[in-house]
Amino acid sequence: MKTALIFFSATENTARMARVIRHRLERSGVDVDEFDITAWSDRQKQLDLAPYHTLVFGFPVHSLRAPRVTREWLRTLNGGGKKCALFFTFGGFTVHPAHQTTREILREQHFSVVASAEFPGAHTFNHGGWRALADRPNAADDALAEEFADRVLKRFTGEDPAILGELDPGIYSAEELDRFEGFRFRMVTQIPTRAGAPCSLCGLCEEICPTQAMDATSGTADPEKCIACLRCLASCPEQALTINDMSASWTPKLNLGKTTEDALNAQQGTLYL
Ligand SMILES: Cc1cc2nc3c(=O)[nH]c(=O)nc-3n(C[C@H](O)[C@H](O)[C@H](O)COP(=O)(O)O)c2cc1C
Repeated sequence: MKTALIFFSATENTARMARVIRHRLERSGVDVDEFDITAWSDRQKQLDLAPYHTLVFGFPVHSLRAPRVTREWLRTLNGGGKKCALFFTFGGFTVHPAHQTTREILREQHFSVVASAEFPGAHTFNHGGWRALADRPNAADDALAEEFADRVLKRFTGEDPAILGELDPGIYSAEELDRFEGFRFRMVTQIPTRAGAPCSLCGLCEEICPTQAMDATSGTADPEKCIACLRCLASCPEQALTINDMSASWTPKLNLGKTTEDALNAQQGTLYL
């Protein structure tokens, strides 16, 4: 069986889980090709799905859904009835609309979604002072991802003929989800910026930006295009980029989620089968 493993990962959590799943599938004899679609340039060429029997998609949760650019990219695919599995990494807060909304897109693109999963990952905004899931994913998360790969393979081969069951549709309308996505800068996050720090102008931040938002020369991102994924900041070899201090929003964020830091950080992943 030949499988395409396709993921978006700004700060490496999703990439790590993708590789755990990849190695597990490969150990079971699956031929896996990996496609990292994080950079804008990686999403410009049409992906030829013809060689693949099955697919696995991995995304971080951004504002309760897969990142907007990945949802748009999924709409360029035609699954032709192929089986696929889905997984997310999340920073400790709400995840569930991501499963349902992404499955809907995949169904509309003629994929059959056989399973989904969510794995905890250090919240991107820890770069700004939050304290969510700082040491995740960890070995226990990897073990759950291996179990996910085993269960998915059984569904891919037909040994387990089931597909993904009903999911909690959640309480939010599509309009509300769109509004949450627009909140990011007004609420807590500003754009990454160099703020005068020394920089050799290597251009990496601009090259790897998922939305063509970053301008390496000025050292700042276009707020209209930036999705606050912080890939530029996390990847800068000179640590020249910074984000605003978000620590003041940490306690209000916990209160809004009706949780505590200990409860948040004790969360485990979940498989949806
Ligand atoms: C713009 C943005 C929005 C996010 N929204 C959520 C969210 O709604 N729920 C959540 O639990 N985590 C959220 N996160 C945290 C990420 O899902 C989490 O850190 C993820 O593991 C990052 O994956 P990556 O390292 O592969 O980029 C958000 C992160 C960003 C950048």
